[in-house]
Amino acid sequence: MSSKPTNVLITGANRGLGLEMVRQMAEDKGQVKKLFACCKEPSGAKSEGLQTLAKKHLDIIIIIPMDVSDLDSIKEAAKLIGPQLGGEGLNLLINNAGIVGDIHSRVQEIAPKDVQDVFNVNFMGPLNVIQEFLPHLRAAATVSGTTGMSCSKAAVINISSCMGSITSAMGYDSSVPCVPYRISKVALNMLTVCAAEEMKKDEILFAVLRPGWVRTEMGGPQGEIDVEESVNGMLEVMASMSEEHSGAFLDYKHRTMPW
Ligand SMILES: NC(=O)c1ccc[n+]([C@@H]2O[C@H](COP(=O)([O-])OP(=O)(O)OC[C@H]3O[C@@H](n4cnc5c(N)ncnc54)[C@H](OP(=O)(O)O)[C@@H]3O)[C@@H](O)[C@H]2O)c1
Repeated sequence: MSSKPTNVLITGANRGLGLEMVRQMAEDKGQVKKLFACCKEPSGAKSEGLQTLAKKHLDIIIIIPMDVSDLDSIKEAAKLIGPQLGGEGLNLLINNAGIVGDIHSRVQEIAPKDVQDVFNVNFMGPLNVIQEFLPHLRAAATVSGTTGMSCSKAAVINISSCMGSITSAMGYDSSVPCVPYRISKVALNMLTVCAAEEMKKDEILFAVLRPGWVRTEMGGPQGEIDVEESVNGMLEVMASMSEEHSGAFLDYKHRTMPW
């Protein structure tokens, strides 16, 4: 990133795309001062990679427990992070945590529980995290003393998917219906646009990014790209964003996605 944020928060930071974001930001000797790597179970087996990385970058990476499907957990995380931001506020919040649910779930036999679980993580999670950290994003926008918008000033990036594109869903591959996931990402996209409009006056940038089809636990081994390429692309896109990208839906190659 050429224009780098000082304080960053990433959800779902213990594996997959979230972990690679932490790695690339921490290893890119830049201005990232504090990187709050939030994850559900910091001492669990799935967080070993993050723990190892944090030991290498003790001065930058701070691991914070946060289950995005649990409002109390988000509030606890905000209590831990708030005092560590000092007067600088939070420059960049990346809502990355996500679950896919039952990929075979079709409208005809959709289980309400699956919809609820997927919505709790993919939609309610980002909404609650945004609400809890908004004061810190506003603080960052104010102390920056600059006009305009950028990911180094104050921004929220919501990680969505081409499955959250209604236009792209026309004639979709019916062997992978993933209906709850698709609907949750459409809701996340709308949340982003509404937040962008509402928080324009605060000069906080809100945008949606699509990582591509990536070889992670969610994307599977047949994914088209690896985490390194996806994250490298997304960080470049974030670095290039300004007020003209407020409410945008872009992919990791800076291509505009259809809603
Ligand atoms: N991979 C792809 O091809 C692809 C394509 C389009 C969009 N995306 C999006 O990219 C984001 C990251 O996906 P990924 O491929 O890295 O998936 P992944 O490898 O399955 O990782 C998902 C991450 O989300 C975390 N998470 C799940 N539920 C959580 C909760 N309740 N609270 C906190 N963290 C939670 C997981 O933590 P645990 O280890 O604790 O479960 C894990 O860190 C998701 O939003 C996904 O929808 C991915």
